[in-house]
Amino acid sequence: MLPVLRYRAGAGGFMEEAPQSGDDMTIKVDDFRLKLGQHELVPIMIGGMGVDISTADLALEAARLGGVGHISDAMLPTVSDRRYDTGFVKEKLQQYKYNIESSDKTSIKFDLGHIAESTRLHVSKTMERKRGSGMVFINIMEKLTMNAPRDTLRVRLHEALSAGIDGITLAAGLHLGSFTLMEDHPRFRDAKLGIIVSSVRALQLFLRKNTKTNRLPDFIVVEGPLAGGHLGFGMDWAQYDLRTITNEIHAFLKAENLGIPVIPAGGIFTGSDAAGYLQEGAGAVQVATRFTVAKECGLPPEVQQEYFKASEDDIEVNGTSPTGYPMRMLKNSPSTGSGIRPGCESYGYLLDANGRCDYIDAYNREIAAHPGEKKIAVYDKTCLCTHMRNFKCWTCGQTTSRLKDTTNKLADGSYQLLSAEHVFKDYQFSTGNKIALPESSAN
Ligand SMILES: Cc1cc2nc3c(=O)[nH]c(=O)nc-3n(C[C@H](O)[C@H](O)[C@H](O)COP(=O)(O)O)c2cc1C
Repeated sequence: MLPVLRYRAGAGGFMEEAPQSGDDMTIKVDDFRLKLGQHELVPIMIGGMGVDISTADLALEAARLGGVGHISDAMLPTVSDRRYDTGFVKEKLQQYKYNIESSDKTSIKFDLGHIAESTRLHVSKTMERKRGSGMVFINIMEKLTMNAPRDTLRVRLHEALSAGIDGITLAAGLHLGSFTLMEDHPRFRDAKLGIIVSSVRALQLFLRKNTKTNRLPDFIVVEGPLAGGHLGFGMDWAQYDLRTITNEIHAFLKAENLGIPVIPAGGIFTGSDAAGYLQEGAGAVQVATRFTVAKECGLPPEVQQEYFKASEDDIEVNGTSPTGYPMRMLKNSPSTGSGIRPGCESYGYLLDANGRCDYIDAYNREIAAHPGEKKIAVYDKTCLCTHMRNFKCWTCGQTTSRLKDTTNKLADGSYQLLSAEHVFKDYQFSTGNKIALPESSAN
């Protein structure tokens, strides 16, 4: 029997182990279906990846194949400029140009009309192209506080619903007030609304705070410590494990008599990994890392090669994100140490309710410490808006080091990109912990 790879933090990473009872080698994802209301779906959800890493093209492939895809609402004004030829960033920069040299960014505010219009454009243009029986959701992160957290989040949520998104996944934050913010929208009870949590406690808090809306989430994504992007754990992330948290959430929901589908995420690399969770009662799985090397993914091809090449030693969880959440990324990410001027006049998505961002403070500190120097380095924090926008912060999942095993190495030493359909179907139909290689593009 083929060995099973398990992540053992204490033993230094992924270890090959003999399959145990529970590692059923014949079951596959396609033996299961996710039921969301009237809808029956292939139980594979491609997770949201900002900024436009989970593109409309990627999400639409998941929907076409009968699963669920996510677009991301992160930084939609700049995504809209790039995709739909709008001029939101230019206009904002024009308005706040006077402030570029200032270390105080508190006066920079978002135009709510721009947020609404860019959301409407991205969602409606994506939904117009939807084919197949699956669904497209949007990942909305609370941590994009945009110097007016409540007002901006309300617009983002409402416009996504108005523009016809099938569902919303509330991410990066506890979202204690998000259901209330949407309560007066006509689609509040018909759109599929879910939440990402990393502990049973976060789920309990969310449910308690939302009892007065008399509406439960339609699904719960349980994100473990091996995921990409921001983590819902501290720097002690390696102490936690997805299966344990998922089981705790199953037990809590059972005790409360709540039949909400549970969707584990983070480190689910093979179809058999996924089928194992489904057999244990999960409604679906959420996966992302394997799709970062799909042609439909928004990462530039040269960055995708960096993901392929990465070994376990090349991946770290660090505290450079100004959100305060740890973030996993490649160590050679160009954002690391970059001391660029804060880009808040153009972006400013991480300005908190008081117009502050930890990167601005770190940058100002280094400027003061190195007077007259043209180029400074900032290592403790990163200008996440600018770097994510430019695909210079290479956030990734822990299983990125295994991507090279999912494809062919080409004659020039590079790796063959995959199609999203290939990866999706491999998750759906593979058994025995195997991963199907794509047809060689060299033929
Ligand atoms: C490149 C990348 C970017 C991500 N960005 C986001 C994001 O913007 N919001 C979010 O909620 N999750 C984000 N995630 C997490 C994924 O949606 C997903 O839950 C997780 O990575 C699944 O684990 P896997 O990558 O091991 O399959 C990101 C993941 C990756 C790999």
